[in-house]
Amino acid sequence: MGMKPSYRVHDGFRMPLGFPADGFSSALGYRARPRDIFIATYPKCGTTWVQYIVYLLLHNGEPLSAGRLLADAIPHLEEVGKETVERLPEPRAIKTHLPFAMTPAHAEARYIYVARNPFDCVVSFYHHTRGFAQHYDFAAGTFGEYFDCFIAGEVDFGDYFDHLGSWYAHRDDQNSLFLIFEDMKTDPSRAVVEIAEFLGLPCATDENRIADVVRHSSFDNMRSDQDRWSSARPDEMPAFVRKGVIGDWLNYFSPEQANRLATRFNACAERSGFTGLWPDIVHVAQHMS
Ligand code: A3P
Repeated sequence: MGMKPSYRVHDGFRMPLGFPADGFSSALGYRARPRDIFIATYPKCGTTWVQYIVYLLLHNGEPLSAGRLLADAIPHLEEVGKETVERLPEPRAIKTHLPFAMTPAHAEARYIYVARNPFDCVVSFYHHTRGFAQHYDFAAGTFGEYFDCFIAGEVDFGDYFDHLGSWYAHRDDQNSLFLIFEDMKTDPSRAVVEIAEFLGLPCATDENRIADVVRHSSFDNMRSDQDRWSSARPDEMPAFVRKGVIGDWLNYFSPEQANRLATRFNACAERSGFTGLWPDIVHVAQHMS
């Protein structure tokens, strides 16, 4: 038996150790408000990047001041519970990793979902899991051990494919914006404009403002400022804002792992209708030998 990360299980739902049980239960009872902006993602799919874009758009393109945490401005609902979120000024911007059916719904709230290909997601999630020893007790775990848990859906926030499928089904809802991490990488300005338009912000047409937001939320800027995004990680572990690239998975996967994840992807995509996502990556993985 290989090593496995440890989790806390709330009502059958895996969460990082240290996420308080009452935070989770109270989160599920949060009543969404008409102006709420949810940033909904499976972990490691670009949450923090989109959180910061939303923060900048709502704050005239001004960066978060030194010493402030992004998580205080845009908290993680199921970590802090509903009371903290209810104290936010409106419009409230809220992070969640819950699948669609568990996320507080309101017809006039807005939901930004970010999807990232599962190959890079699992690599990023592996580094996240071994880096936060206090949450997972997996500092010595290998990629292979983590990969087996991920493909079985036995990781925090549940199965990647169930999560993606649940939100993909709502991608065309009028109050939902479905973004793809890889498209954001290719054209960050376009993503920022799309988010601004979706939020109905006049700055969507202000080229200078958009350029400021793109610059402050660039990988290099966010990478140089780790303290704003997450609690400290041991020096020997990769930083939270780590590489931010497409294709790092090629440095980790064996051909057998690539084939297995591609097979799982195809089966789930067929069932949930997302066969059109990341065709090139899935093709490479399927034919790796
Ligand atoms: P890697 O580990 O592949 O580098 P989340 O915020 O959902 O936890 O996602 C984290 C991933 O997003 C990490 O991926 C991180 O490096 C990447 N990321 C964070 N900020 C980014 C940015 N401004 N541009 C591109 N990628 C970014």
